[in-house]
Amino acid sequence: MKRVSLTQYLVEEQRLNNTIPAELRLLIEVVARACKTISHAVGKGALGEVLGSAESENVQGEVQKKLDILSNEILLEANEWGGHLAAMASEEMESIHPIPNRYPMGEYLLLFDPLDGSSNIDVNVSIGTIFSVLKARDGMDAPTEQDFMQAGSKQVAAGYAVYGPQTMLVLTTGNGVNCFTLDREMGSWVLTERDMKIPEDTQEFSINSSNTRHWYPPVTRYVNEMLAGKTGPLNKDYNMRWIASMVADVHRILNRGGIFMYPADARDPDKPGKLRLMYEANPMAMIVEQAGGAATDGRQRMLDIEPTKLHQRVPVFLGSKNEVERVTQYHQE
Ligand code: AHG
Ligand code: MN
Ligand code: MN
Repeated sequence: MKRVSLTQYLVEEQRLNNTIPAELRLLIEVVARACKTISHAVGKGALGEVLGSAESENVQGEVQKKLDILSNEILLEANEWGGHLAAMASEEMESIHPIPNRYPMGEYLLLFDPLDGSSNIDVNVSIGTIFSVLKARDGMDAPTEQDFMQAGSKQVAAGYAVYGPQTMLVLTTGNGVNCFTLDREMGSWVLTERDMKIPEDTQEFSINSSNTRHWYPPVTRYVNEMLAGKTGPLNKDYNMRWIASMVADVHRILNRGGIFMYPADARDPDKPGKLRLMYEANPMAMIVEQAGGAATDGRQRMLDIEPTKLHQRVPVFLGSKNEVERVTQYHQE
């Protein structure tokens, strides 16, 4: 097999399709390098003393794990000095992180969920990192949170790393989705799957069914129809998978189809779902759409939502196109 490295892929993609200017290439390579460092820490586990709680809370009131904080620091440090960014934002930081004055300022904004699937860290189940890249406004000198308030359709790149049996990087710059596997001996990312496509139909769904009693009627209807299987209105049997790491669930869906749902529910009307729009839902929605799937909040296309807050939450329905359209349709009826 002729090996194509991440760098070679990025250079060739720019030559062929003009989607990755040099500064964006640097950004992607720096993020990928940071993910390599996180992967190394994840792989050490107890031997690296990275497991367990940090005994602090983030802005959303979630208890932070040591790896949440470490991964956030790794991404911040890696991305500060290269001159490719104007500012960063993260699940683990209340406010945006402008690039310090001592470094040149670049034209991109980077958002990330440094460690996704925190509840799986201590039990050796796949976890990941999610990132989203936006363009800063022209001539910006002091970035503010307002500069990040752009719809997901404005993303110029999005991706995730999944730390599983293999460490993989899945990337889109708006021209399809490609997957790279970390060669641990060589320390390099190798292109292992080009132009990933999600099957339009599926017989597999993902939802945390412990919340069943809180669901709104469209979700209850849809899940009940799937559970009814061959004898129900959908005329086929479904299988169910829930990893509790969005990265790992989306990675499975990208490879063999499926629908992922984290709906809003009746528990707390002020909390529309669990997942965050800017650094979880939007980057995953861009990847899924680029792979031929669909992503909505149950009512509208995820990538069309105009954000109002950095840490805002949204209901999420994404994956195989026909199923996402069905459950979105049920919300309209
Ligand atoms: P994070 O670890 O970044 O806070 O995200 C966890 C998210 C997502 O990865 C996963 O799909 C979901 O939370 C799991 O939620 P439940 O614990 O409610 O199943
Ligand atoms: Mn997350
Ligand atoms: Mn996280």
